Amino acid sequence: MQAIVYDEYGPPGVLRVAEVADPVPGDREVLVRAHAAVVSAADATFRAGRPLFSRLFTGLRGPKTKTLGCDFSGEVAAIGPDVTRFAVGDRVIADTGTALGAHAEYVCLPEDGALALAPAGFSHAEAAAVCDGLLTALPFLRDEAALREGQEILVNGASGGVGKAAVQLATYFGARVTGVCSTSKIDLVLSLGADEVIDYTAQDFTRTSRTYDVVFDAAGKSSFSRCKRVLKPGGIYLTTVPSPGILFRTFGPWRSSGRRAAIAFTGLRPASDKAEDLRFLTELAEAGHLKPFIDAVHPLSRAVEAHHRVDTGDKKGTVLLTMEQDPA
Ligand SMILES: NC(=O)c1ccc[n+]([C@@H]2O[C@H](COP(=O)([O-])OP(=O)(O)OC[C@H]3O[C@@H](n4cnc5c(N)ncnc54)[C@H](OP(=O)(O)O)[C@@H]3O)[C@@H](O)[C@H]2O)c1
Repeated sequence: MQAIVYDEYGPPGVLRVAEVADPVPGDREVLVRAHAAVVSAADATFRAGRPLFSRLFTGLRGPKTKTLGCDFSGEVAAIGPDVTRFAVGDRVIADTGTALGAHAEYVCLPEDGALALAPAGFSHAEAAAVCDGLLTALPFLRDEAALREGQEILVNGASGGVGKAAVQLATYFGARVTGVCSTSKIDLVLSLGADEVIDYTAQDFTRTSRTYDVVFDAAGKSSFSRCKRVLKPGGIYLTTVPSPGILFRTFGPWRSSGRRAAIAFTGLRPASDKAEDLRFLTELAEAGHLKPFIDAVHPLSRAVEAHHRVDTGDKKGTVLLTMEQDPA
């Protein structure tokens, strides 16, 4: 089969299409023929090997796992003899977690892995796009923030993969949502369901008089010390990006006037929890609470362009790779 591989950290040009061995499902494994896979900011970070701490996950000297990619959609092509939950032909969404490997034509997952039926009525590209950022945003909002109806949340980086998912989920949970993004993404963030938008190029949200129960820094561009003043007493600042300060506050006994700060590493959660979340995601998508926002779809052979697009930081929606026949 074809897969996108890389042997060293660097710019998108380190990626190439390669012929690799077809994966063979074990007794309790499912072989999925991938149709569309997300190229996320995390994939771009793992490819670049920067910031350097990312190499703790991917390999200090060079990439341990040669094929990137996490969230994807596809169709079950074969099952192991002991598989009972899925059948050949099922349309599925999946997350490969720390195993990565989704930027390929075929992927094997345990049947009790992070795998669920895809939302009905969604194309493969739409199903993959609706997964973008969801398995990160959901545990942050539901588990870390315990976000409730009527609460006020600010999402910094509301136009990104994680932020888009957070705005849609927070709206579903009945919270009042303020999204922070750049000028050209204001309409996108309003269309996700945000009640208000702050353009970070014109206004610093940490300098306003508004306060929030939750500040979710999906982009990791701010800090607890800056956001404290816009948190209500008992409020929480959450960020996706590690720093010594946030690690100390998450895992140490620190508190500040009842205001808290935390980070979570959502990719490291058990696959069974992610599978449950994928099933929830499918329900929400089918009920119209989650919508896919696609920036671009590139054939596997143009993975370098897809990574360039993600590296620009200017995407308006999800960047996808499709494994369907390259019309060119
Ligand atoms: N902790 C975890 O488990 C976990 C899991 C997944 C991802 N992550 C990390 O989460 C981060 C975000 O991922 P993503 O997929 O959402 O990235 P993304 O799709 O590239 O989005 C980045 C966002 O950052 C925003 N941004 C850039 N500069 C900003 C600024 N100065 N102020 C406010 N927002 C700014 C962008 O807004 P504009 O486009 O409007 O400028 C964009 O919405 C990445 O660092 C990723 O590695 C962490």
